[in-house]
Amino acid sequence: MLSTPEVLRRTGGKPVKSIVYDEATIAGRVEELGAEITRAYPDGELLILGLLKGSFIFLSDLVRTIERPIQVDFLVASSYGDGKVSSGKVRLLYDPETRLEGKHILLVEDIIDTGKTLRKLMVLLAERSPGSLAICALLDKQVAVEPRPELRFVGFQAPPAFLVGYGLDHAENYRHLPFIADLE
Ligand code: IMP
Ligand code: MG
Repeated sequence: MLSTPEVLRRTGGKPVKSIVYDEATIAGRVEELGAEITRAYPDGELLILGLLKGSFIFLSDLVRTIERPIQVDFLVASSYGDGKVSSGKVRLLYDPETRLEGKHILLVEDIIDTGKTLRKLMVLLAERSPGSLAICALLDKQVAVEPRPELRFVGFQAPPAFLVGYGLDHAENYRHLPFIADLE
């Protein structure tokens, strides 16, 4: 268990199991992703859509590494049905105000687990006739639920652990950690 004063001050005294990606590692990879995205979209309008809430820190770092004009908007999606178990149905609680028609749309997500939510969202967005539609995920757990959504840009292949920090939460806690930790 990791219980340095820096960790404990931020978690209210709860140790984490380990730091899986530290600040420098994340920053380096985000920089590379930004360069990949800049190269991948040489022309056309590019709209970056951040899926709230988990992507908020990743998105804010990522957009500052993209060296071409972009627009930024957000999506808030909610799975509904029987509550805890993902029903596979998705409802948009906040729908982007920005027009999608004809634009390159890059959906930014924190972590892909089963990918169910994202797959449904892609169907909803595809109905609005974007010029192209792709996903950028910071972390991919590579859980085998078929068909998997196609991930065009991936930060890290994540271990099969419960990760928190850098936007990722456990019951709304830990989102503010500057690193990504295994909660155990
Ligand atoms: P999926 O629809 O099964 O891919 O679930 C993805 C969503 O579950 C992510 O957007 C996160 O909100 C949440 N999630 C999955 N794994 C983790 C984790 O390790 N830590 C925190 N949230 C997670
Ligand atoms: Mg999420």
